[in-house]
Amino acid sequence: MSITLKGRSVTEDDITAEVLRRFEGTPDPRLREIMLALVRHLHGFVKDVNLTEAEWFNAIQFLTATGQKCDDARQEFILLSDTLGVSMVVDLINHRKPEGATESTVFGPFHRDGAPEMPPGGNIAPRDERGTPTLIRGRVLDLDRRPIAGAQLDVWQADSSGMYDSQYADREALHMRGRFRTDHDGRYLVRTARPVAYTIPNDGPVGQMLRATNRHPWRPAHVHFVVSADGYEPVTTHLFDDADQYLESDTVFAVKDSLVCHFVRRDSHDDTSKSLAIDPPFYTVDFDFVLKPRA
Ligand code: BEZ
Ligand code: FE
Repeated sequence: MSITLKGRSVTEDDITAEVLRRFEGTPDPRLREIMLALVRHLHGFVKDVNLTEAEWFNAIQFLTATGQKCDDARQEFILLSDTLGVSMVVDLINHRKPEGATESTVFGPFHRDGAPEMPPGGNIAPRDERGTPTLIRGRVLDLDRRPIAGAQLDVWQADSSGMYDSQYADREALHMRGRFRTDHDGRYLVRTARPVAYTIPNDGPVGQMLRATNRHPWRPAHVHFVVSADGYEPVTTHLFDDADQYLESDTVFAVKDSLVCHFVRRDSHDDTSKSLAIDPPFYTVDFDFVLKPRA
């Protein structure tokens, strides 16, 4: 039972009620809704687990370290959100797609503005010596499967060592990134290296959390895309390799079935490989992106 003496809160439930009361007057209705729910859930969580003072202080230290790990090239809070599955819940709530539209997935912390514009067949992996050449090709379409000309595909991926360009000492150099445009038939063609599975950065607080909870840090092989066109909602997504062993256990929960692709091995030339001077073996992936109109 809760007893309030002279307006002072005496039980934990009194405190919760009083904190809620103080946020009642928040003028912005959305902020009010968020703050009230936050307080209810946060207090509920603390009571649920009977949080000790040592555990509470540990949590403060963990969040402090998470912030301290962030700089221009490292976003530990995005990693935390991703590994707790929050990023994917936010994605799913915000991007309910009509039947046929390409599904979205996490943005991740490795996108960079200013990737070079490339012609069809441009190679985003010119310095990746270990990787097997891979052509990703298809069309960008509307919901009626009509081609969208002039759509932009902003593409990025980790190299064949599982590293993004910004993770190297010379982190200014751009590599494994490019921006492509569809032609009048909505067609695009990206040349890259076959992606590999890689571990998310795990030398910080998020890595500590994964180890303490017996979780692995691996992401299945994928290529990132943001596909956009005038009059359509942009889609932030990945294409995953169907041969990857981590599809079922992606550490950031980002795999959706519709984004899993077959990388077809080619042991002889075709017209495209000849025109781009790619010697077999190489891989091809066919994927059409479908955009929904802007609301
Ligand atoms: C990525 O795919 O680049 C990524 C996504 C979430 C966390 C870390 C990396
Ligand atoms: Fe990635």
